[in-house]
Amino acid sequence: MIALEGPEGAGKTTQARLLANRLRGAGHPVVVSREPGGTAVGRELRRLVLDPAGCAILPETEALLYAADRSEHVGRVLWPALETGAVVVCDRFVDSSFAYQGAGRGLDGEDFRALQRFASHGLEPDLRLLLDLPVRIGLRRRFADANGVNRLDAADIAFHERVRAAYRSAATASPAAWAVVDAAATPADVARQIESAVWERLGPRLTIASTKGTSAIVDDGVR
Ligand code: TYD
Repeated sequence: MIALEGPEGAGKTTQARLLANRLRGAGHPVVVSREPGGTAVGRELRRLVLDPAGCAILPETEALLYAADRSEHVGRVLWPALETGAVVVCDRFVDSSFAYQGAGRGLDGEDFRALQRFASHGLEPDLRLLLDLPVRIGLRRRFADANGVNRLDAADIAFHERVRAAYRSAATASPAAWAVVDAAATPADVARQIESAVWERLGPRLTIASTKGTSAIVDDGVR
């Protein structure tokens, strides 16, 4: 399982699709999914938690809604996919809760950590890719598409700075679990960085042809 993580506007969704295409091209069955919203219940929860016009939600409630989405997703989609031998590429996972609800909303106690364990059903990504970029660049990208703005995007800059800092310190604290990618680069360059990180970390478990693979990604409409 590969989880794509990062602050707003990092381009995770595009990169998840490109990585999945590349892995499929190398012969791997791949399941691409996302949080929140990877199941039927999750789509309802996503609507509830991200609606910019929705009612105010307490931080604890927000954490529980994301946890409910994750429990359903892990139990119904992610574990079953992994059990069939598929590579799972997931656009956000539990580290989003640590960054947004933990650091962003200030929920960092033991109960919060226990909730994350409970909701993850023991699943941990084999690799977390941090698509890192300065908050202002990410928000500028995000706000360029007014329809794409959700309730969390609309939080203040200090909130987003805490989110980014939490991701960066998680990656620094556990370098074996994370690869950091410069997401301010062009999409084609980000795709190249991701492919080399995946190859370097998971190479023995995946059969990606490295140099040839890079051009396959670049040719895949990224530019
Ligand atoms: P989405 O539209 O998928 O945005 P992005 O492209 O940034 O992933 O919205 C997901 C939002 O939900 C995003 O603002 C991050 C937030 N989020 C949390 O706060 N906690 C979580 O556990 C998850 C999975 C997402």
